[in-house]
Amino acid sequence: MVQSETPPSPDGTKRRDLLATGTVVLGCAGACALTAPFLNSLRNPSATTLSDNTLEVDLSALAPGQDMTVQWQDWPIFIQRRTPQMLAALQAPEHMAALRDVDSKVLQQPKDATNWHRSVRPDYGILIGICTHLGCVPSFEKPGSTPDAKGGYFCPCHGSHFDAAGRVLRRAPAPYNLPVPPVTFLSDTKIRIGHSAGDPGFSMSDIQQI
Ligand code: FES
Repeated sequence: MVQSETPPSPDGTKRRDLLATGTVVLGCAGACALTAPFLNSLRNPSATTLSDNTLEVDLSALAPGQDMTVQWQDWPIFIQRRTPQMLAALQAPEHMAALRDVDSKVLQQPKDATNWHRSVRPDYGILIGICTHLGCVPSFEKPGSTPDAKGGYFCPCHGSHFDAAGRVLRRAPAPYNLPVPPVTFLSDTKIRIGHSAGDPGFSMSDIQQI
């Protein structure tokens, strides 16, 4: 979707239009040598695109602490199944004090994900994997993979860190939290991406920056 006007963001950054962002992602897929697991994940057999351009995803193989990536429209969608430890880390006072938009005041998500875990259900995080700085694709930091890794995301282009809810740390160059797509849970292990039962009027063009 092309925006004819790009209103300035609170820090003066211009909002990137969605078409341009898709170009960055696809360009990066070739030029930035995205990893084979990332490319494979975009062909995830657990995901099916329906005729209305929504995406149904089967989550039954996703174990606690794991993540998967699917493609919806031109965006990589990160899906993580959170452990109790990941949820506790999101609410730690010292961690919350280090976040730029801890309460998700900037419209980067539907109303039913405007909460501390930025998702419809706390045990699943579902984010658009596009860094809000210049559009690179962050990577998942599996909990326990390093002493500091608590299930967040790291953008290798300029070093932005996001927590497991996609909330950006204050010192990162990325100005906003990672966007959250509209999501509906069809069952405990099946979701539809592209429609929000909790915020049916939500449109991707409402997002401040993607
Ligand atoms: Fe992610 Fe610059 S594009 S930090």
